[in-house]
Amino acid sequence: MSTGNIYETITEIAKRRGFFWPSFEIYGNIAGFTTYGDVGVKLKRNIEAQWRESFVRRQGFFEIEDPIVNSSKVFEASGHLANFKEYAASCSQCGRGFRADHLIEEKTGMEHVEAQGGDAIKRLLVENNIKCPVCGGALKEPTLVLTMFQTQIGATGTEVGYMRPEAAQGMFTNFKRCYQANRERIPFAISQQGKVLRNEVSPRRGMHRLREFTIMELELFFDPQNPACPWFKDVEEEKVRLYTEEMEEKGAKEPLEITIKEAVAKGLVITEWQGYFMGVGKRFMQSLGVPPERQQFRAHLPQERSHYSSQTFDHEVYTKSWGWIEVAGHANRTDYDLKAHQKGSGVDMSVLRKDGTRFIPHVIEPSYGADRLMFVAMETAYELRETAKEKRTIFRFPRNLAPYQVSVQPLVTKDGLPEKAMTVYDTVLAEGYRAVFDDGGSIGRRYARQDEIGTPLAVTIDYTTMEKGIITIRERDSWEQVTVHVDELPARLHAYFRGAEFRSLGQLVVRGAE
Ligand code: GLY
Repeated sequence: MSTGNIYETITEIAKRRGFFWPSFEIYGNIAGFTTYGDVGVKLKRNIEAQWRESFVRRQGFFEIEDPIVNSSKVFEASGHLANFKEYAASCSQCGRGFRADHLIEEKTGMEHVEAQGGDAIKRLLVENNIKCPVCGGALKEPTLVLTMFQTQIGATGTEVGYMRPEAAQGMFTNFKRCYQANRERIPFAISQQGKVLRNEVSPRRGMHRLREFTIMELELFFDPQNPACPWFKDVEEEKVRLYTEEMEEKGAKEPLEITIKEAVAKGLVITEWQGYFMGVGKRFMQSLGVPPERQQFRAHLPQERSHYSSQTFDHEVYTKSWGWIEVAGHANRTDYDLKAHQKGSGVDMSVLRKDGTRFIPHVIEPSYGADRLMFVAMETAYELRETAKEKRTIFRFPRNLAPYQVSVQPLVTKDGLPEKAMTVYDTVLAEGYRAVFDDGGSIGRRYARQDEIGTPLAVTIDYTTMEKGIITIRERDSWEQVTVHVDELPARLHAYFRGAEFRSLGQLVVRGAE
């Protein structure tokens, strides 16, 4: 195991235990692409499911699935072809390209340099005498480059397509169909989880910036004359740590701690809907294990905002690996996108009010990235536990987030124990749990392996199971063990994964030692 920083440690465990690793690694990897292994896929799916639970299912919102390759007309109309650009500086000696704002941040320790705009980026690069980080050569003046992947539609065709850099455009271009399917009622939301691609100039920090990643995005459509959110009360007392635009301009070092209700009442967050989703987002992050004090919302300055937004708050979480990082954007997209597609396509995007007037809906968008959250969940759950005998890695994932919930193992691989364990494993699977059967090595090694992939419970079949039907359940976090009759197992698992105390599952036989 690495003695380096936590980022390197987690990245090493991730490769060894099959969470994630660099793609195409047998050919030497290309930065910005990640492959998920078995436990990584399961953890990511659980994060996606938790997002869907928090933002979609409980509200009865819609989902769609739209193509990744889009007609160039979509991004011409949306403004992405004109605006989805970064400042890149290329080296006059080796020809490599770099994101200019990132080079400045690395050299000076400044933050959010992009927000200062192109002139400042050009000036800061020169003032700080920044050279090519690879060969030390002089950098050319930065230029804006399009960071969308282009493709050709049809093997012999000439139609240009682009890989979507956000899922949102699918919700706008399909708005009318979804609105009809919703029996022409508003407010309502359309959501989408799926892959997006951004041809980053020089991605760095692994999972932090990928060229292909999964976005979890929702567009809430509402009438600006009736901006109330019916569920606002559910979250209004949630306290959030907030940096407003004004505080950002003044360089404030400490956030405002304020309830969502107050933030909306004071006009710091413009709409109830945006406040609502910020509250939902805070709870969603807690469900991944991130406590409130490691979360904050930071307003974008006008020059930092995307071309479509009138107000954006980044939802940031604190990581030991990278400091504060953005995990989501909460944007007020106004009627920008529907108007843009109305103009681009000629299709009327307006809807009818009860009084007969027509309007183009306004939009609030919470947009989370699943891959960064996967790393955040791993880092948050990571514990290096030292005992007299060893140092052991444990991923203390929230119970329902863990890749596997239960491991099942025979104490020894003889005397009919593996066969009995297999029937218990089948029962656990039939009850709907994510379970793994583990019969390799000593029982201690097997527990250690499960700790390292974060499996909350281990069920062991021993000779008392054969004689009296008694099994042992061992908990990842406390290392305690209880015994219970095998017939009781489904009910006990059910209770545990709904929040019951571990000790209530059976008779305590081992107190936190192995
Ligand atoms: N739709 C949010 C984003 O593109 O970042």
